[in-house]
Amino acid sequence: MALRNILKEGDETLSRRCRPVTDFNKRLHELLDDMAETMLSANGVGLAAPQVGVLRRAVVVLETNTPEGEECVIELVNPEIVESSGEQTEPEGCLSVPGAYGMVTRPDHVKVRAQDRNGEWFELEGVGLTARAFCHEIDHLDGHMFTELCDHILSEEELEAYYAEQRQQEGTE
Ligand code: NI
Repeated sequence: MALRNILKEGDETLSRRCRPVTDFNKRLHELLDDMAETMLSANGVGLAAPQVGVLRRAVVVLETNTPEGEECVIELVNPEIVESSGEQTEPEGCLSVPGAYGMVTRPDHVKVRAQDRNGEWFELEGVGLTARAFCHEIDHLDGHMFTELCDHILSEEELEAYYAEQRQQEGTE
């Protein structure tokens, strides 16, 4: 496994549409392994292949809502959203836009259909942050960034105020 360089906003690779994965070979497995390692080392919750310069439809997402509280990496190859419901509006960021967050509205619950690293199709549901990450990463595969969905990048003060309000709400619940 190896860390890969994460492309930054402005790189034209990030605005291109990715092609489907057709070969479920060692090269794909290495890509997915490297993407997981790169995401974890950057403290991200998702990473899409175009962010490491590969224009193929593959993403990794960190699932944090497991019953045991353990995190696990989900690999989605050729993913598509087949169902979505609910709504959440929260600060969202991206490893390609370090340190920047904007308020983005996403579905609160999504079901994706995807292939695993060996080409087997499966369906998976995500809620909350995981649903958000599924949507965000799949957007990358079509050349879209979260910055297209928020009206501005939050200032440090706005972000602090948002989290302070969240803490206050949690405290009074
Ligand atoms: Ni991103």
